[in-house]
Order: sequence, then C-alpha cells, then structure tokens
Amino acid sequence: MRSITKYTVIISGKGGVGKTTTTVNLGVSLHNLNMRVVAVDTNLVTPNLALQLGLPPTPTTLHNVLRGEADVLGTVQLHQTGLNIIPAGLTLSNGSSRYLGNFRQALEPLKGSYDHVLLDCGAGLWGEVLKSIKVADEAIIVTNPELPALVDALKAIKISEKLGVPVKGIVVTKFTGARYELKDETIRGILKGYPILVKVPFDTNVPRSISMRKPVVSLKPNSPAARAYRRLAASIIGAPFKESFFSRAKERLFGG
Ligand SMILES: Nc1ncnc2c1ncn2[C@@H]1O[C@H](COP(=O)(O)OP(=O)(O)O)[C@@H](O)[C@H]1O
Ligand SMILES: [Mg+2]
Repeated sequence: MRSITKYTVIISGKGGVGKTTTTVNLGVSLHNLNMRVVAVDTNLVTPNLALQLGLPPTPTTLHNVLRGEADVLGTVQLHQTGLNIIPAGLTLSNGSSRYLGNFRQALEPLKGSYDHVLLDCGAGLWGEVLKSIKVADEAIIVTNPELPALVDALKAIKISEKLGVPVKGIVVTKFTGARYELKDETIRGILKGYPILVKVPFDTNVPRSISMRKPVVSLKPNSPAARAYRRLAASIIGAPFKESFFSRAKERLFGG
C-alpha cells in the first residue's frame, strides 16, 4: 500500500510567472502516471485554480476548512482530467489567512489518501504563502528568465531555506530563447545553484487552454509546454519519459 504523501509547495514571489499553470499541468501529468494527486488552492485572496479548470463554485472550500466548518476531505472536487482539486472561496468577504486556522491541521487529513499534495500559492511571500511553505515537504520555485522574476525567486528560496523546507529545484517558464533572456548558467548562479528541473517554453497553447478551461497537457499533450510538464512529472517520480518520434524530430528541427 502506498502511504507516503508528499506535500509540495509551488512558489515564486512574483505573480503571473506560471505557478497555477505549473500546479495544474504537473498535477494532471502525475495523475496520468498513476499517482493520486490533489491540488490545493492556498491562494486565499485571489484564488484561480478552480477557474483555470472550469470547476463551478462549490458549497465548501478551503476557507470553510480553515474556519473549522468543514472537513478537508469533503471539499475535494474531482476534475474530469482525474486531478483532485481543493478550491478556495471566491468572495472577498472570506477574509485573509490571518483570521483563519492552522494550515497544518487543515491539510493533515489528506495524508495517506494521496501520493502528492500540490499547494498552489498566490504571489508575495507573506501570510498564507508562508503558511503553505511551512506545511510542505519540499518547494518548487517557478520563475521566468528575467531579472525581476529571478530576484523574487531568490527571496522565495531564502524563505524556504529559513523555514527548513528543502528546495527541489526551479521551473523556468515562458522562455522564448531570445538573446536578451537570461541563460541557464546565470539563472542557476542567481538561484544559489539549485537545479533547473525543466524549462517550459512560451507556448500560446497555454493561454488558449486556459480560455478553454482545460490543462494544456490534456488539450494538446504534444505541444511544447505540455511536453515540458510531462517531462517534469516523469522526472519527479523517476519514471521514464516517453516521447513520440514525431515530437522528438520536430524539436530537433524547429527547437520545440
Ligand atoms: N508556458 C507558457 N506560455 C505562455 N503563456 C503562459 C505559460 N505559462 C503561463 N502562461 C500565462 O501566464 C499567465 C499567468 O499564469 P499563471 O499560471 O496564472 O501564473 P501565476 O499562478 O504565477 O500567477 C497566464 O495568462 C498564462 O496563460
Ligand atoms: Mg496563480
């Protein structure tokens, strides 16, 4: 029986870099590799995990769990992709995490029922983001190949280290390969030598998939971004990554 549940927090410091996209697509890819996965929207002020997946508002959310009004297992929504989701409440009147209960206590009952609990954080490095980092077994840092994103990513790394949460590595998203973008050595140099787990190319299939309320790995599994997320999931569980001959040939010819 599989009983070890790994809590992974997805953080960046900066907003808009691709955390929710990473959570969703990593989550679905892990599910497709037979992992039991639940993605939790710990972005309590501006949640959008459920919105990205087109899930309708639910009667109970993480906010209710944190207020002691609901059991966390009862808030789990099964998305058509097979990914389990714990949404956060959408209205502003839900209040910030300052007034809400303990994350560890709220998320503890997930232990044993899932292989992976992915915590999709909001921007910034305070409040519920710190609470999310504290419950995690490891952190994945999402960033973009430009200085403002990397400076915030470095802060996210330092905070994880300070809180004793190991940093698994870096997911660089939205790279185009343009000459002005920071190169891998520079990124690793700024981010204290942590490994780049995967580089997710800038891919218009991502915003297109979001507009269709579907993860890109489901909508376009062979698109460049989807392949990167599938590769990330495989590497996280040590599974081989199988790509079609056509995808490999296309990448060699056109760079992905
Ligand atoms: N690989 C990508 N290529 C192109 N656009 C992307 C990619 N990843 C994310 N985006 C876009 O970036 C925006 C922010 O993504 P999101 O995952 O919501 O970031 P965050 O959760 O860090 O705020 C979205 O509009 C999304 O479509
Ligand atoms: Mg987000």
